[in-house]
Amino acid sequence: MSEKLLYSLARPFLFAIDPEAAHNLTLPALRCAAGWGLTSSIAKPTDNPRTVMGMTFPNPVGLAAGLDKDGAYIDGLATLGFGFIEVGTVTPRAQPGNPMPRMFRLPQAKAIINRMGFNNGGVDTFVKNVQASRFYQNREGILGLNIGKNADTPIERAVDDYLICLNKVYPYASYVTINISSPNTKNLRQLQGASELDALLSQLKDAQQRLADEHKRYVPIALKIAPDMDQEQIQNVAQALLRHKIDGVIATNTTINREAVKNLKYAEETGGLSGAPVFEASNIVIRELKKELGNSVPIIGVGGILSGADAQAKMNAGASLVQLYTGLIYQGPALVRECAAALHGK
Ligand SMILES: Cc1cc2nc3c(=O)[nH]c(=O)nc-3n(C[C@H](O)[C@H](O)[C@H](O)COP(=O)(O)O)c2cc1C
Repeated sequence: MSEKLLYSLARPFLFAIDPEAAHNLTLPALRCAAGWGLTSSIAKPTDNPRTVMGMTFPNPVGLAAGLDKDGAYIDGLATLGFGFIEVGTVTPRAQPGNPMPRMFRLPQAKAIINRMGFNNGGVDTFVKNVQASRFYQNREGILGLNIGKNADTPIERAVDDYLICLNKVYPYASYVTINISSPNTKNLRQLQGASELDALLSQLKDAQQRLADEHKRYVPIALKIAPDMDQEQIQNVAQALLRHKIDGVIATNTTINREAVKNLKYAEETGGLSGAPVFEASNIVIRELKKELGNSVPIIGVGGILSGADAQAKMNAGASLVQLYTGLIYQGPALVRECAAALHGK
């Protein structure tokens, strides 16, 4: 059975239940299916290699962070044909995240609002999960590890949390993402401000150099940013990326803007909005970054990709790679191949 048909059968059931419950059913089911070899019939995208951040990606379509926060389902996810997989966000210590419900579907808008709040089992469990995956053990592909700060760490000490996580995940990562753009951790986005960002990036860069010497391997660092920035703020971020020689930028995280969904059920829920309503907002950020960065710092484009044409539009805006999350919920895993096919030869 094709994954398209399977997903069209499963979707009405998954959409009838609470979104977080659906999430908690789907990932173990995928793990079982992969373990039993049932996903081996999923046709892989044809190779379409891209060299970005010094690594060769088999195709430019990746999984965005947040779907597998603990890195517990890497092998199942790896069967879906992604050119790279990003897991996390992980924090130094385990934390429960916000009270439930904390994830809402807005189907008319092909959107999700979430305020998960970095629910995760902490970096030590995360590293064990990564180590236990066949994907890591057999070096099957590119694995991004996305790190953040605990909710109860004061924002003035945020750098400590990023450094703890960077030290621990570094040896297992193909690249490390610094997530300073979740709207669901109080004050986190303050780190995008000019002086905070300078302090954060300079310490991360120093740590990266030290770790590269220690492990005899340079692991690129990418910064993940929000779509809710004006032109001047985006330019400031871009200049900081150049100044500190950061290896990549992921644009964007979810938006706090509700313009595109007003009057829809759940539109007023607190959290980050993803899916179709963030598509253009993230493209604007990508275009602005591209103007500032040229070819010096590659951009990974994410936000509202629901079709192959959307993936192409992200590339046209200036992205070198793309990532998917909400589109997978609405379109199913066949979206990976659709996007990879649309970008083939481009
Ligand atoms: C339920 C949910 C949880 C998310 N958790 C994270 C996270 O932990 N870390 C992160 O960097 N991004 C997280 N994201 C943001 C996505 O990685 C992505 O940047 C954003 O949703 C825009 O892409 P999309 O429209 O394709 O979903 C999350 C998104 C959703 C919907």
